[in-house]
Amino acid sequence: MIQFSQSAQQMRSSEIRRLMALAADPSIISFAGGMPSNTLFPVDVIDEIYNGLSEKQKQVAMQYGPTSGFPPLLESLKKYLESKGMSMNGQSLIITTGAQQAINLLTKVLVDPDDVVITEQPSFIGALAAFKSYGAVLDAVDLDSEGINIDALKLSFDKNGAKAKMLYLCPYFHNPAGIIYSRDRVRELLEVLKGRDIVLLEDDPYGELYFDESCKPLTKPMKALAAGNEPVPICYTGSFAKIFGPGFRLGWLLGPTEIVEKCELAKQSMDACTSTFTQVLANEFLSRGMLEPYVQKLRKAYKERSSIMLDALKKYMPSGVTWTTPKGGFYIWVTMPEVMNSSDVFQESIKKGAAFVIGNAFDPHGVKNNSFRLAFSHTPQERIDEGIKIIADAICKLMK
Ligand SMILES: Cc1ncc(COP(=O)(O)O)c(C=O)c1O
Repeated sequence: MIQFSQSAQQMRSSEIRRLMALAADPSIISFAGGMPSNTLFPVDVIDEIYNGLSEKQKQVAMQYGPTSGFPPLLESLKKYLESKGMSMNGQSLIITTGAQQAINLLTKVLVDPDDVVITEQPSFIGALAAFKSYGAVLDAVDLDSEGINIDALKLSFDKNGAKAKMLYLCPYFHNPAGIIYSRDRVRELLEVLKGRDIVLLEDDPYGELYFDESCKPLTKPMKALAAGNEPVPICYTGSFAKIFGPGFRLGWLLGPTEIVEKCELAKQSMDACTSTFTQVLANEFLSRGMLEPYVQKLRKAYKERSSIMLDALKKYMPSGVTWTTPKGGFYIWVTMPEVMNSSDVFQESIKKGAAFVIGNAFDPHGVKNNSFRLAFSHTPQERIDEGIKIIADAICKLMK
């Protein structure tokens, strides 16, 4: 019999994977995957960029590169992050194979088995899986419409003491909750963190995707607000996945040099380097100023999809069901009465042709299941109304 390592023995194929497999059937109207719309990818621009590269640039693109990242992309990205108010003083930046790898690397270098990672409730499933893979104990703190509950967070700090190594937050267009932190909550949070012996992981893949300019100030990262005066070390991770294409597998990590250097060491034995090929393309996209006009197009398209979904929710959901109204990003978080179970709703909905992600997938303890996540980003616009009606009908049926 094969003797797997202890950490491999802890790995389980999650229920979400099983359900996602059902949702992959093309006849299903799926609100499950947190994916950008295929139809919005900048395919022509990428063709043009690639065809315009010199022979030498193409050779570089096909070669290994430094573990920390393709130097011209690091430079373009630094400029981009500085334009958002971030300081490079005492900080280092590395390119990672998606933000997922940045989360994984940080956990690897900071967290020992039985250390505590404090997360939001609900929280991003990929981060939860990474924390668990290193044997972390998760302590979940409730979110409300303005962000993490500060009193509960203080209790968590008191309860966990020195065992708490990392606080993981997704403050801007949260996955899965769809909310954005209020500025008051951000200020309170930065205050509460002062003097704590913990690292903040600020995960920001969706911040650029605000629907209205008036919302832009809310997306200024804590890493930028606290620049030069961080209450605790802040490791900021971002991604090209939602603003360029997840297939490029490009993310980044900006944090105190001491931490980022350790991550770079850990990355060496993980993948040696992130794909140079996609870094070359991303660098051209960023340095030629193509990102902003493209993201403007995305903001408009996702705003439109979100309002179609919100209209459908209003039209079809029975009373007792509530949902968040996103100001950006990809997600709406729907909450049903406590007695309801989103797995039952899923089973009923999939029979009729619609899918979403059940709530307990995002519960760090895998229990709470009266909510679920709808992604409006990937589904063809003209099918959103029909899909929401199917889910609402399933809820009505189960409520009886
Ligand atoms: C909150 C959050 N963080 C990180 C990631 C991972 O992003 P990437 O595709 O860059 O690895 C995702 C992807 O869905 C996400 O939603």
